[in-house]
Parts: sequence; C-alpha cells; structure tokens
Amino acid sequence: MPLDLVLKNVKLFTIAGPFEGDIGIKDGKISKIQGDIQEQADKVIDLSGKYVVPGLIDGHTHMEFPFMGEITADDFYYGTKASIAGGVTTIVDFVTPAPGQDLVSAYQKWRSNADPKVVSDFGLHMIIRQVNSKILEQIPDVINKGVVSFKLFMAYKNELMLPDGELYKLIKRISDFGGVTGIHAENGEIINELIQDFLKEGKVDPVYHYYSRPDILEIEATNRISSIASMLGKDVKMYIVHTSTGEATDIISSYRKNGFRFYNETAPHYLMLNTEFLKRSDGFRYVMSPPLRSDEQRTKLWMRLASGDIFTIGSDHCVYSDAQKKRYKEEVPPFHEIPNGVPGTETILPLLFYFGVKKGIITMERFVETTSYNPARLFGLYPKKGVIMPGADADFAVIDPNKKVRISADVLHSNIDYTIYDGIEVEGWNTMTIRRGEIAYEDGQVIAKKGSGKYTPGKTPILL
Ligand code: URP
Ligand code: ZN
Ligand code: ZN
Ligand code: ZN
Repeated sequence: MPLDLVLKNVKLFTIAGPFEGDIGIKDGKISKIQGDIQEQADKVIDLSGKYVVPGLIDGHTHMEFPFMGEITADDFYYGTKASIAGGVTTIVDFVTPAPGQDLVSAYQKWRSNADPKVVSDFGLHMIIRQVNSKILEQIPDVINKGVVSFKLFMAYKNELMLPDGELYKLIKRISDFGGVTGIHAENGEIINELIQDFLKEGKVDPVYHYYSRPDILEIEATNRISSIASMLGKDVKMYIVHTSTGEATDIISSYRKNGFRFYNETAPHYLMLNTEFLKRSDGFRYVMSPPLRSDEQRTKLWMRLASGDIFTIGSDHCVYSDAQKKRYKEEVPPFHEIPNGVPGTETILPLLFYFGVKKGIITMERFVETTSYNPARLFGLYPKKGVIMPGADADFAVIDPNKKVRISADVLHSNIDYTIYDGIEVEGWNTMTIRRGEIAYEDGQVIAKKGSGKYTPGKTPILL
C-alpha cells in the first residue's frame, strides 16, 4: 500500500529541537518520520527552504458568540477559514449557553452551528454563567462528550460574572471529574464601580475602557482565584485565560513551582499593542478585555513567554464589524457599550514567528510548545494533536521564513474589512496548511471545503 503523501526535505521544529528529513502520511495520520523516505506515495511535496511546525492549536476562539448584545461576525466558516489560512489546524471554541440554558443543549447547539461549517478541526470548552442543580449534574455529561475544559468569569457583571462561592463550587465539581477550569480573571465588582464613576464624569472615550480595568484588578483576581483553587488541592487543574500582565503570570508560575497545576495563556495583542491604540480615531476597534496595557507590560509578557512561564498562546478571536463595534451609530458609543473583542486567529503565526523568533526573543521550541504542544495537553487533545509522531494527526503549518508581508485586511480571511495589525510588516508567513494529511490551504487560497473540519473530543488532560 503506497503512502498518501510524503513531505520531502522537511525542516521540522518540535519541542525537542529541529529535525531534517522526510515525513510519510497515510489515512490522515503521520506514518513515519525518517531521514529519507523512498517508498511509493500518491503525492510528494518538496518543502526545501521552508520551516514546518505542528499545526497550531488556537485554544481561545469565540465564533458565533452572543455577547454584549451582538453575535460575533465570524461564524464557524469564516472564522475557521481564517484559522486554516494562519496555519491553525484546530481551534477550541467556547460553547456559550444562553441565560437559563442547560449545558448539554448548549453543547448540541454549538455542534450544530459548527459541524456543517468548520474548515479547521475543533474542540470545545464550556462557559458556565450560572449554577443550579442541573448545571452541576451535567458537568460530567459534557466531559463525556469531550468538553473537558470550562471557562468561568470573575468579570462582566450582570452578564457572565460569578461570585466567589459559585466559582469555588464549580472548580471543585469540574476537578472531581478531571476537567480543567479556565478563568477570566478581572475584578468585575470594582470595574463596575469605576465604569459608573467615569460615566458620571462624562468620560466615555474608548481609552476609559483601559482606565476602568487597571492592571491591579487582573492581578488581584488572579491572586484571589489561585488562593481559592489552591484550597481544593494539587490535583485541581486551572488556567487563567488571556493574561495581560507580568505580575498575574508570576502568581501562576509561583503556584506551579509549588506543585499546583495552574497555567496561563496570553494573546498576541497583549504582546504586540499598547493602550495608545485606544486613543486613535479607530480606538473602538481595540476594545477587548482585559484591555491593552503599557509597553512595560508587553515587555514583561515577552520575557515570560521566553522563559516558559506563560504556558499557551490563544488568540481570543472575537470579531465584531465596525458597525457592531459602533452599535450601528455614526458616533463611537460610550466605552462600556462597545462589544469587547478583537480578531486574531490568522495572525498568531506570523506575529509570533517574526516578532518572537526572528527578533531573537523566543526559540522555535518555545513557539511550538506554546502554540501546539501545551494547548494540546491542556485541552486533552494530546497525543492526537500537538505532537509530530507516528499515529498522530498529520497537521502541519509550512512557513516560508523569508516571505515578506504587509498585514492588511486584504490578505486575511475574516468576515470584516479591517485588522488591528494594519500596516505591520512581517518576514515569515504561513504558505501551506496540511490538515489530517490534506492540503487545506496554499498560497492565499483556502482549499478545504466548508464542513470538512472534524470535532475532536478532549480526553482527560495530561499535565505534570
Ligand atoms: O474582549 C474579549 N476578550 N472578548 C471575548 C470574551 C472574553 O472575555 O474572552
Ligand atoms: Zn446527567
Ligand atoms: Zn475572557
Ligand atoms: Zn475570550
């Protein structure tokens, strides 16, 4: 039986360092990795001069997300087209139950939205926005369906925020069944006070989004939830999503050094952009939570990414059109009415590769660890995803390390006509995405068909 595909002259990057040679693929899986494969194959691709990395796992996306009165502009088709074009072969999206909805029916809704449209493979997390006996009962039920990671909110008062007692109860319940609890760590009570104060003073510009969510409120919430979760013992698996400060990262790292399974994620926009963007005429586009911070914080995050203290990179892809961001008005609405979120799944690879690896801040090993290996382990997708070895899914991003691109909405695939990285120039671009052994994207064209992505259920996460 011939192989389906052989990738020749591959310069492959793994968490253990580079490898040069050939990769044989059969039935969507890696079948062999060796110096020179001479075996018959239906198709051979010479990748000389390219860098090959495991397909990225974007563990933080919000497709078709109902939030702040809007539904995000990227549905599962547009959103995962953008992912695939960016070398992301798997996303993990947040199931978001409607108020009062139970977890199982919300899961079913997400599957029925996603299955016919996805271009990348996908896993699911579960957001929990309220606690009752049915919700508690259904936690093991959704874990059995492959939803092993959850997200709870300490902010967004009156929409998603939960009080400490409920956070405690849920972390305990999720842990009892081996799940991982993700936390949006910002102090929502104090944020709400600050918002009301600014509104009273007529301070409504987008930059007040930042002033109403100072660094300390992320640091405090991270500290508080770590204390609360630590009471439940060292088997508890918790990760803080979209960390925007060095200090919050340090809290998590110090718990991890003491044997706790606490982790954190950051997003590319916190590495790339600062608060000044909120002061521009298009500052409304840059409203997300936590907010963009100082250059000092950006530097702290890069350093912690380099040192391995930050565990994963997720885009927090949560796209609103300009019209949605402006709530269909001419004028920019008061900051607290602007839907929170920015695009990002397609630009993880070029930004991290150019500004991280090429600039000498992070290694390729760290790139691979934070964009595929660690998210795969954290979200229970390992070793099907996130590793290059025989038996694993043949998911790869092929980077042309010398390709120069000026980022603009025209070169990206989201369902909006702007990007928050407009005009930024990078050297290094994803030129081919291989998803389960098939060429899903090549040179600007998404080839994979709508609905060809697969649901990848998570298993109990493997973490040290
Ligand atoms: O601003 C953001 N991050 N929007 C998406 C919702 C969330 O908190 O992740
Ligand atoms: Zn049940
Ligand atoms: Zn969040
Ligand atoms: Zn998010």
